[in-house]
Amino acid sequence: MLGNFTYHNPTKLIFGEDSMNALAEELKSYGPTVQLVYGGGSIKRNGIYDQVIAALEAAGKTVVEDGGVMPNPTVEKLNEGIAIARENNVDLILAVGGGSCIDYAKGVAVSVNLPADRDPWQTYWVDFEEPTCPVVPVGAVLTMVGTGSEMNAGSVITSHEAKMKVGHVFASADVFPKFAVLNPTFTYTLPQYQMVAGIFDIMNHITEQYFSGTDDNTSDCLAEGLMRNLVAASRAAVKNPEDYEARSNIMWCATWALNTLIAMGKSTDWEVHMLGQAIGAHTDATHGMTLSAVALPYYRLIMPYGLAKFARFATAVWGVDPDGKTEEQVAAEGLDAMEAWMREIGCVMKASELGVTEDMLEGIADSTLIMQGGYHALTRDEVIKVLHQSL
Ligand code: NZQ
Ligand code: ZN
Repeated sequence: MLGNFTYHNPTKLIFGEDSMNALAEELKSYGPTVQLVYGGGSIKRNGIYDQVIAALEAAGKTVVEDGGVMPNPTVEKLNEGIAIARENNVDLILAVGGGSCIDYAKGVAVSVNLPADRDPWQTYWVDFEEPTCPVVPVGAVLTMVGTGSEMNAGSVITSHEAKMKVGHVFASADVFPKFAVLNPTFTYTLPQYQMVAGIFDIMNHITEQYFSGTDDNTSDCLAEGLMRNLVAASRAAVKNPEDYEARSNIMWCATWALNTLIAMGKSTDWEVHMLGQAIGAHTDATHGMTLSAVALPYYRLIMPYGLAKFARFATAVWGVDPDGKTEEQVAAEGLDAMEAWMREIGCVMKASELGVTEDMLEGIADSTLIMQGGYHALTRDEVIKVLHQSL
């Protein structure tokens, strides 16, 4: 284990089929007014909304509705939510949904008490400041699995005007959700496309952290276990979306893939996310699929710079037999096995399927941040090359 670190994750998780029974009691720890954040209406169709309202009523809360959070929440919607929170002086923001709702709730939470002359987007997603004002507590009821937002302090906001989709991973413990209710059965109604996007998002969160460093690191062993379980569970869930064992394992994998644990002692990469987020800024496509579209060209390009780790990935995660093969062959077989799995579960394999065309590549490259923590920092030409290979 290299480096020095402090691990602190303050989020309380309430997990399982009966986890909603605990929500009313949990809510009692917070003040009387709750801003109820949700998306485009799936929770009204699948009955989760009614269960949440029942818990809020049982806890005697005044509910301020804030629905209509879109996938990839925008600056404009964020500003609306901040106005709602200020007007009603809310005591808790309860996000019921996926990463978009939870990220948005965190964005509102850090912005409510900013001085009126400070612009939230500029402060947190351009200047990356930490909150110096009080942060409103956030709670979550998770309905879409993938981002890990339920147990981390990340908040991704999109500015279509700036053509930037930016994630701020806050350092402050105040930004983590105070609690998250994780009921795997809530994910049964997810469209297959969203389920698969979430599964690849989880896989990529793990590989973004795994493909860095050369030391022997316990975090990498945890990462390998998570990846093996994710692959097995995803195959079962694609065959039968109501396989509780599979859906619960995917949910648990997602949380541990991105709650900072497996980043301990690692420099971490995140370049696939930078490419994916740039595609997202230009297309508004589903997050996980923006990652699957570029992951393979990117990993094949950087493989020679981190060959030993790619070979380890092949044997430890995909069961590639290294006997009689060169390290290059083993490493390449690992990525081939990942590709076969991605095709099997239904990942989008090309950015062109998300609406990316050749004439957009320079603009997407302009929106792509270059990370330094992986095995190779991309040049501008390499960014274009990866994007090109994904058409
Ligand atoms: O809006 P509704 O109607 O609820 O529909 C949603 C939405 O259309 C639907 N959905 C959610 N739960 C459902 C359901 N449909 C049926 N049944 C259910 N139980 O799914 C769609 C996608 O939801 P969304 O919240 O957008 O998905 P996800 O959880 O993937 O979140 C994506 C956002 O999170 C950011 C992404 O960039 C993107 O903006 N990320 C956040 C991260 C973090 N906080 O650490 C890290 C990630 O890498 C990611 O960047
Ligand atoms: Zn992600």
